[in-house]
Amino acid sequence: MEFYKLQSGGRMPALGYGTFLATGLELEKSLNIALETGYRFFDTAIGYNNEQIIGKVLNEWISAGKVTREELFILTKLPSFGNRPEEVDTYIKQSLQDLRLDYIDMYLIHLPIGLFKNGKSLYSDMELDKSTDHLKIWKKMEDQVVNGRAKSIGLSNFNIKQVQRILDNCKIRPESLQNENHLYFQSPEVVQFCKLNNIILIAYSSLGMKSFRELIGISWNNKQLPEMLENDVLVKVANKHGKTPAQALLRFINQKGMSVIPKSTNPDRIVENFQIFDFKLDTEDMDALCSLDNGESGRIVRFTMIKNIEDHPEYPF
Ligand code: A2P
Repeated sequence: MEFYKLQSGGRMPALGYGTFLATGLELEKSLNIALETGYRFFDTAIGYNNEQIIGKVLNEWISAGKVTREELFILTKLPSFGNRPEEVDTYIKQSLQDLRLDYIDMYLIHLPIGLFKNGKSLYSDMELDKSTDHLKIWKKMEDQVVNGRAKSIGLSNFNIKQVQRILDNCKIRPESLQNENHLYFQSPEVVQFCKLNNIILIAYSSLGMKSFRELIGISWNNKQLPEMLENDVLVKVANKHGKTPAQALLRFINQKGMSVIPKSTNPDRIVENFQIFDFKLDTEDMDALCSLDNGESGRIVRFTMIKNIEDHPEYPF
């Protein structure tokens, strides 16, 4: 495993296990396989509705002495329906309780826009809260580091301007930014910005989120792009190294300095995705894969399931 050093003194594994869309017994089984495989970084969010299951499995592993709390790196997020300064304490406490932990390793603001929950469970039924004030929320995020509930704090789905505003006004810097990043959406400007500002970029959807795209029925803005893991150039690079396309893609993103959090509930693929540090892509491979970037039209996730989201003053895209 490779690690990135955090300013707060800890270190973040360069590879984690993503849990979005996974829940129930399937997640429980997958988490056990992931832990047996060696994953120690787990990415979740209140919005994924799976923290209680993650908490149960982690607790079993810690209680059995198979892993220590210090070996684990747990990342979770303030939900967009809690994006108000007075709600940060409530939601981090809920995560700690559900995850059965006394601290979170990395706590992120999940989205730059706010919502009113009003008893609704579906994002599509929630109303926009257009008064979202990042600086006031960030101050409460900083409090979580001071009071020990979070070791480090960061952002997710923020654009460069929004991150810069926090950097310009913070006492504790955002240590990570979790954004979409994959073969067709490489955001070189965000990669560069994070590098310059010592922020670890955590790439989500790095394998192309096939199951999510099927669920919501989207292709890449109707562009006729080949399925990501079947892309000829990627397949060729993978074959050259005796690796699978998924392994080559994860390594590609990792070699650009990002942390990756692939999602899988398939036992073989959970193991496959962990084996990405025993080979290195050369400049020719990296250049070939970089040339497949499709810019903005390669973006998959736009949060359009949230009604009128584009009308929010902090809509990031
Ligand atoms: P599965 O759970 O059946 O393995 P992303 O992390 O970009 O959201 O991608 C997740 C999707 O990619 C899931 O549909 C997952 O399906 C699939 N996936 C995960 N790992 C691999 C792999 N090594 N090869 C092919 N597909 C994979």
